[in-house]
Amino acid sequence: MTEKIITMVQRKDGDAADLLDRRNRPLRDLRISVMDRCNFRCPYCMPEDKYHKDFEFLKSSERLSFEEILRLAHVFSGLGVRKLRLTGGEPLLRPGIADLVGDLSRVPGIEDVALTTNGILLAQHAAALKAAGLSRVTVSLDSLDEEVFLKMSGGRGSVGQVLEGIAAALTAGLTPIKINAVVKRGENEHTVVDLVERFRGTGVIVRFIEYMDVGTINHWQRSDCVPSRELLALIGARWPLTAVQANYHGEVAERYKFDDGAGEVGFISSVSEPFCGSCTRARLSSDGQLFTCLFASRGMDLRNPLRAGASDEELCALVSGVWGAREDRYSELRASQRKDDKVEMYYIGG
Ligand code: GTP
Ligand code: 5AD
Ligand code: SF4
Ligand code: SF4
Repeated sequence: MTEKIITMVQRKDGDAADLLDRRNRPLRDLRISVMDRCNFRCPYCMPEDKYHKDFEFLKSSERLSFEEILRLAHVFSGLGVRKLRLTGGEPLLRPGIADLVGDLSRVPGIEDVALTTNGILLAQHAAALKAAGLSRVTVSLDSLDEEVFLKMSGGRGSVGQVLEGIAAALTAGLTPIKINAVVKRGENEHTVVDLVERFRGTGVIVRFIEYMDVGTINHWQRSDCVPSRELLALIGARWPLTAVQANYHGEVAERYKFDDGAGEVGFISSVSEPFCGSCTRARLSSDGQLFTCLFASRGMDLRNPLRAGASDEELCALVSGVWGAREDRYSELRASQRKDDKVEMYYIGG
């Protein structure tokens, strides 16, 4: 199956950089949501009152099959994508996920396959994911304080389970492990220093994400967001920090190293310091819609063409057309525009 696809897609390594959007940004990363469901109910993403037991998530037949995802991965690789990140909802809820990882890790041109998870099922999957070819994991963990954690996860899971997942990922070698902590004013900023202290010197990189206005159901207000510079001052007062260069062009986190050599922390400041100028990311929802911005209102359907028998050339042309027309820079425009019809994060992937 895999070999067949490779020969079908015209790989264009040499001229991959030629596919630029209207703001001269190449297509380099594809974030693939493999599952719209989640076993958490974080109020800022999937509040329980809306995503209750009768909420209709996608049917399995509506989600892209592994074969369809793999086919698209070849197409995107041919257009310049080098990094794949599996997201959700919660990607570890998708049955057989390690098999998909294995297939994706063998797609020519793909250099990095990572996965973002809430960590609850990570302990049971870490070894198989590594064996299949996953490079690394990023784990969401908003606080080590059980009460705060439960408030932010909608009463699901526990800090202990997430820490076990992280430990298993370290043992399996899914490194560098990154922790994503969303910081929401009045909820968890008082637990930020503890999180840093817990992982200093372990090789695990903690990153703080400014709470964003993704989707519409979280009723975001700017005052809910704690600007990274505030956290930097707080953490830097305890352990002196020095800014370091990004690992690669377009890295979303700003990196700071501890002056005492105990590792680094990162800040993702999409609200206070937008990074749209270097945004090379496309997102694929689990039902095959292609989005060119986290704050988009609608995507372009790739599932129907796939299922109607489109050739690889036709799929390439569809994706190239969308990327070539891309002008997104929502975070840069946030202050001056109001948008009421954004897709939700659990659906589009983080
Ligand atoms: P690395 O490859 O390890 O650098 O990962 P990454 O930082 O690209 O991926 P990750 O999923 O860990 O991103 C962290 C978080 O940053 C996401 O969950 C989002 O909250 C936010 N983020 C990532 N990409 C974008 C983006 O394009 N726009 C905005 N506004 N936020 C983003
Ligand atoms: N703002 C910032 N980060 C968010 N995440 C989910 N919703 C938001 C939001 N509104 C985070 C998750 C996870 C990552 C995938 O995105 O907590 O760490
Ligand atoms: Fe699930 Fe992540 Fe959304 Fe929380 S933020 S409900 S863990 S997808
Ligand atoms: Fe990219 Fe849109 Fe995020 Fe800007 S707001 S960095 S264009 S995903």
